[in-house]
Amino acid sequence: MKKINLSNPHIEALEPYMSARRIGGCGEIWLNANELPFPRQAFTLDVSEYHRYPDQGPDQVQATYADYAGVDPEQVLALRGADEAIDLLLRAYCQSGTDSIVINSPTYGMYQVCADIQNAAVIDVPLTADYQLDVAVITAQDNTKLVFICSPNNPTGNSFKREDIIDIVRHFESEAIVAIDEAYIEFCPEQSLISELKNFANLVVIRTMSKAFGLAGVHVGYLIANQSVMDIMRKVAAPYPLADPCAQIALQALEPAAVAFMQEQVAEINLIREAFCSTIQRFTAVKSVLPSAANFVLVTFTDSDKAWRALTDAGIVARQIPHPRLLDAIRFSIGTAKEMEAVIAVLEDLA
Ligand SMILES: Cc1ncc(COP(=O)(O)O)c(C=O)c1O
Repeated sequence: MKKINLSNPHIEALEPYMSARRIGGCGEIWLNANELPFPRQAFTLDVSEYHRYPDQGPDQVQATYADYAGVDPEQVLALRGADEAIDLLLRAYCQSGTDSIVINSPTYGMYQVCADIQNAAVIDVPLTADYQLDVAVITAQDNTKLVFICSPNNPTGNSFKREDIIDIVRHFESEAIVAIDEAYIEFCPEQSLISELKNFANLVVIRTMSKAFGLAGVHVGYLIANQSVMDIMRKVAAPYPLADPCAQIALQALEPAAVAFMQEQVAEINLIREAFCSTIQRFTAVKSVLPSAANFVLVTFTDSDKAWRALTDAGIVARQIPHPRLLDAIRFSIGTAKEMEAVIAVLEDLA
């Protein structure tokens, strides 16, 4: 058939994001997408209004999430996952072909992909040798519109020094939006930057229910910001951002008992992570285990191809990170204690 070649040239050249599902894999133990390994309790759905477009759902979800996050309801925009928040920020703040964003690699790949879709330039200020923010170089980027900081950072797992983040937000106060991606913040809630929202109009916080809340399949995320950013975001957000079943599930997952249940599961994952890290760092095949504040951990190996093959043979699907600094690394999402024992058994046997 004749090829239709009408797309924007920069879209034609685009590398799509390689999500865990797109990469796929083969096995019984899935530790590649930083999901929670525990299934959720059953949710109930009221289907009586499904012939109507949703309206109240998002308002209620926003108000309930605001209560959970400790902000005002007007500061919360519910969206189809944190990924939609990243995309909307790019579309709202970066003029195609002209503007740029700052990222700090290695970091979450969707900042680059959304910038590529918007035809915005990406200025990469790599993390320092100890995977912290290079504040001097970031704040020297005078012409940027949007700075993404992922804390805790995917894929390294560490969070960044609070004073560094605040220095960056303050530096760009009237020049650029600084978006803190807190996708994994429930695993280290004391590190959230939410309380700084009252001090900075350019600060944006991105959240999701895909990780600690165990709702990746429902895909609800949030953008949290002050009024001037919110006024802009509400112009670019889709008219019906959440499907009603997702809104109903999000509301039930935000009930106090469900939040307490989520926090118990987070505590369990943190314990499993610490036990896993302290066990594997003794193994001869393991070069280093990066300290993690999230539900995944980045491990470097003396021979990562060999480790990968052994894991694959054992039916364990983890994640290799296509970044030049991480060619010897494998990222493991923290699964159940039994799943992590299976990983330990494979790594222990590696020479
Ligand atoms: C840092 C980070 N931000 C955002 C997302 C996307 O979250 P969501 O499922 O809400 O789109 C992910 C998913 O892996 C992530 O790691």
